[in-house]
Amino acid sequence: MVKNYPTKKLIFILEILLVSAAHIMRQRSDFVPIKMLLHEKVLSIVKNMIGDCDGDSLLALMYLAIYESLDPEVGKTIWKTLSLACNKAEKLHLTSLQNSTSLPGVTVKLVPKQRLLSVLYKLEISTSITLGRPPSIVLTCKQIEEYIYDTQLKNELLIETTLLGTLSSIYDNTTNCPILKLTSQPPTDPRVYVLSAQLLSHECSECNGQKETFVNNLLAKSLELLEIENISLKSYHAINYWSCLSNVSIATISLLICKKLWPQLIRDDTELNLSILLGQKLVSLLCSGWFQGWHVRNFIDLCVDACFPNATAKR
Ligand SMILES: *[C@@H]1O[C@H](CO)[C@@H](O)[C@H](O)[C@H]1NC(C)=O
Ligand SMILES: *[C@@H]1O[C@H](CO)[C@@H](O)[C@H](O)[C@H]1NC(C)=O
Ligand SMILES: *[C@@H]1O[C@H](CO)[C@@H](O)[C@H](O)[C@H]1NC(C)=O
Ligand SMILES: *[C@@H]1O[C@H](CO)[C@@H](O)[C@H](O)[C@H]1NC(C)=O
Ligand SMILES: *[C@@H]1O[C@H](CO)[C@@H](O)[C@H](O)[C@H]1NC(C)=O
Ligand SMILES: *[C@@H]1O[C@H](CO)[C@@H](O)[C@H](O)[C@H]1NC(C)=O
Repeated sequence: MVKNYPTKKLIFILEILLVSAAHIMRQRSDFVPIKMLLHEKVLSIVKNMIGDCDGDSLLALMYLAIYESLDPEVGKTIWKTLSLACNKAEKLHLTSLQNSTSLPGVTVKLVPKQRLLSVLYKLEISTSITLGRPPSIVLTCKQIEEYIYDTQLKNELLIETTLLGTLSSIYDNTTNCPILKLTSQPPTDPRVYVLSAQLLSHECSECNGQKETFVNNLLAKSLELLEIENISLKSYHAINYWSCLSNVSIATISLLICKKLWPQLIRDDTELNLSILLGQKLVSLLCSGWFQGWHVRNFIDLCVDACFPNATAKR
């Protein structure tokens, strides 16, 4: 039945099926072959659309990226897909927020332009943070304040932009102490702390008195992140696999580093121990069955086992 649609419509139907199959597959392994069939078909159509510079080909790339973010078996190809999508978005002036002309194309007209940008932006930023590369599009808070009218959309975009701004100000190449920057204006997004865990080894005369505040904030935010993922993993939501794995593993590593480097600053050893084991359990849950996740799981197991020599025998 699906075969009778023209290619331009067929691609979106196949992509929606692919996204669903990749989502269901994480619970039911009998969907793996279905996903593989759909993936092959989708790739062959998308390849032919890459040269088109219209909104439909952008939308097709974005659905492909959404699928790739869900599928533990694809790994880093999302990087390439999103770069292509961002490049196309730039050519189509999608990032010029004041331009309200709709994008050329048929299916893309069904999606509000700013919603399309918001999905691309969020996916691009979470991927760039997860994979450790600079994002291909960056909006400024001023642009967002000025041109995005939908309040919810505006807030979502501001959170991502603020996260990027805070991270680059922590890591920028000035002489200011990064720990002082973090403790003088505490960010609310837990990811900022967790992504700053490497500052635990930072030493300077400026922030001596602030170390304890930093360590305690880092602990609290890592626990918060693990609790969020503990809940979200049990609900049957479509989650970005790589971003979720990165949230959980980086939070667990932060806890381990705190425990190792700053044991004298830790108030509650019991909660910390339990949370590290929870983190390990979540990583193991996320990775079981997926080849691409093995490395992360092995690494976390290695770190945790070094910390709790006796836990391994019990597992
Ligand atoms: C506004 O966006 C449309 C659709 O992408 C594009 O064709 C047009 O050139 C843009 N206008 C300006 C002034 O950037
Ligand atoms: C950072 O600053 C130092 C001293 O100002 C300079 O030597 C170094 O090249 C800079 N590094 C980068 C990556 O810009
Ligand atoms: C994680 O989920 C389990 C199962 O629902 C629950 O028993 C446990 O208390 C949760 N842990 C945290 C730290 O939220
Ligand atoms: C990762 O953590 C951030 C901050 O709590 C959250 O907004 C994001 O949704 C998380 N990602 C996933 C896939 O759970
Ligand atoms: C926490 O784990 C350490 C081993 O890393 C252990 O020595 C300590 O007794 C544990 N604390 C509690 C309260 O179980
Ligand atoms: C680990 O196991 C050994 C032998 O089973 C025991 O003697 C030791 O007390 C245990 N250590 C902890 C921290 O539980």
